[in-house]
Amino acid sequence: ALQIDFNNMLQENVPCGITREEIAAAKARIPEIHRGVEAKRRENTWRDLPFNQDKIVADIQKEAKRINDNYENFVVFGIGGSALGSKALFTALKHIRYNELPREKRGGARFYVLDNIDPDSINGLLDIIDPAKTVFHVITKSGNTVETVTQFMVALDLIKNRIGEHYTDNIILTTDKENGNIKRIADEHGFKAFVVPDGVGGRFSVLCPVGLVSAAVLNIDIAALLKGAGDMDKICSNPNLEENPAYMYAMLYYLAMKKGINISVMMPYADALLNTAEWYAQLWAESLGKKFGLDGSIVHAGQTPVRAVGVTDQHSQVQLYTEGPADKIICFIEVANFRTQLTIPHAPIDMHEASYLYGQTFNKLIASELRGTEYAVTQGGKMNMRITLNELDAYAYGALLFFLEMATAACGEFLQIDAFDQPGVEAGKIATYALMGREGYEEKAAELSAQAEK
Ligand code: PA5
Repeated sequence: ALQIDFNNMLQENVPCGITREEIAAAKARIPEIHRGVEAKRRENTWRDLPFNQDKIVADIQKEAKRINDNYENFVVFGIGGSALGSKALFTALKHIRYNELPREKRGGARFYVLDNIDPDSINGLLDIIDPAKTVFHVITKSGNTVETVTQFMVALDLIKNRIGEHYTDNIILTTDKENGNIKRIADEHGFKAFVVPDGVGGRFSVLCPVGLVSAAVLNIDIAALLKGAGDMDKICSNPNLEENPAYMYAMLYYLAMKKGINISVMMPYADALLNTAEWYAQLWAESLGKKFGLDGSIVHAGQTPVRAVGVTDQHSQVQLYTEGPADKIICFIEVANFRTQLTIPHAPIDMHEASYLYGQTFNKLIASELRGTEYAVTQGGKMNMRITLNELDAYAYGALLFFLEMATAACGEFLQIDAFDQPGVEAGKIATYALMGREGYEEKAAELSAQAEK
């Protein structure tokens, strides 16, 4: 289902690449990395998600049927790890124009994810949906995220004012099993609620109800998705570096970071996977972007993720990738067999300079352009690698997501940081509370207004 080619990460192919000596030295750390990753399995229960959810999945499927039988639209409200998985699953596994298809071809409600509080975006969505015919899925593990809580208020305002008594039918909630605002509200008002299991952090939550409710409403084969993830978990539980692609990815990226290669480009050659690059951007950035003290000095870890898409960004970013600084790794994602086989037609007018293309396929063209770009960036001396999905189906996709999660967790071990926290986002949240007049944040508000006056 999935093949990974790391050859162009090595110095034999690109001068700035990783040397055999560097690999040998880092390989000596693999037993320690393995112990670290496996020890965290107990507290980071996302590792178990592929295996222990039969009852939850049955409940999710029942709820998805109720939604698809009775409503026209399904809207996800959430942010960060509570939204990006749903977006990624939707675009990867469904028809590229899903919402524009007629209902009988879609087989379910139209699907939207709103992961911002841009007033124009909120209003834009409300302009095209009838709230009475819509189910809103509010997802927040903490139950306190201001963006999601305010979106929830929008849904409540629309639904309770219009539908009154049965308004709880139009809103479902996914949150922590006991903590936070939203849990209390779910209990008091009787909303249908799903649980984000303990030990499953936002950006590792796509395979729990956070992503699975969307998957079920979209009629994605959840069993295949989880099977792909579960099989990848087995492969990535192997303590041998050469047989564990997540450890190999983590180690090569870690060694690259040590050389100052600070950018991780994810460049799928499939429009369907652009949101997967976005999902990866959060996973890689929020998990590994950390500062910590070492021998009295502050060390900054992490790599800036960049999302790109082939072939579109060949005409935008690839010039930089080939001739710009050697500060990035480009990870290409290839789909070997697209859902569609599309022939380039013979032009009915004289286009003889382009006639070599007649009768060939877009499939061959996109594959050739990927190989061409790979060749060009390698010639340009930039580290690159390729993940090939034989087909973009639920099984392969589950495996891909899980592989990237495992690689991130292992890279956290190489960097000796906690890949599962995000202390750096707190400062901004506190400043926002102060600016919005939240009680208890008066001192911060004064500090901010003094700064604004400068
Ligand atoms: O990965 C994470 O933990 C974060 O990106 C969260 O998912 C994000 O901040 C939203 O948090 P919550 O689900 O608590 O609303």
